[in-house]
Amino acid sequence: MSDADLIEASLIALDGREAAMRGLLFDRFFARYPGRRAIFLHVEATSVRMTDETLQWLYGLARDRKWVWSQVAELVFNHRNYGELGQDEYDAFVDLAIDALRDTLDAWTAPTEAAWRRQAATLKTLVARARAEWAASPLAYP
Ligand code: HEM
Repeated sequence: MSDADLIEASLIALDGREAAMRGLLFDRFFARYPGRRAIFLHVEATSVRMTDETLQWLYGLARDRKWVWSQVAELVFNHRNYGELGQDEYDAFVDLAIDALRDTLDAWTAPTEAAWRRQAATLKTLVARARAEWAASPLAYP
């Protein structure tokens, strides 16, 4: 099976368990970065979008979809509203999303794990590229 097929199978299996998966992800993220909890005004709403977009991007990357890059670039720019976010925070969020998925789903195989982690590595490089390009752009904060 391709990475895209394996990832899609996980997304189908997640049906009905999204809230449990998000709960694990955000609990673990805030345990690792306790100082960040206070900058979330509406975590119940935001956590849905943050989680769904992360999973959708990983699926889009597995399908080699070029729209992922423009969405990542915009998101990284928007997130400067929330202060100086580190690459480590983005990397941790992506890793913890996959950990939460693994710990929520009944069926999780080595090929499924490899498929998600491979696409995660690509997503992290896109975030790093977006951060570097925005930092170098005339729109960068002084
Ligand atoms: C791949 C990773 C991420 C994705 C896809 C993502 C996505 C989103 C989305 C879609 C929103 C809703 C508002 C908007 O459209 O700008 C949002 C809000 C937000 N994100 Fe992220 N995000 C990611 C990583 C992070 C990280 C690492 C942090 C670090 C703390 C963060 C902090 C926030 C905060 C503080 C808000 C506003 C929350 C609120 O007011 O309730 N995000 N994010």
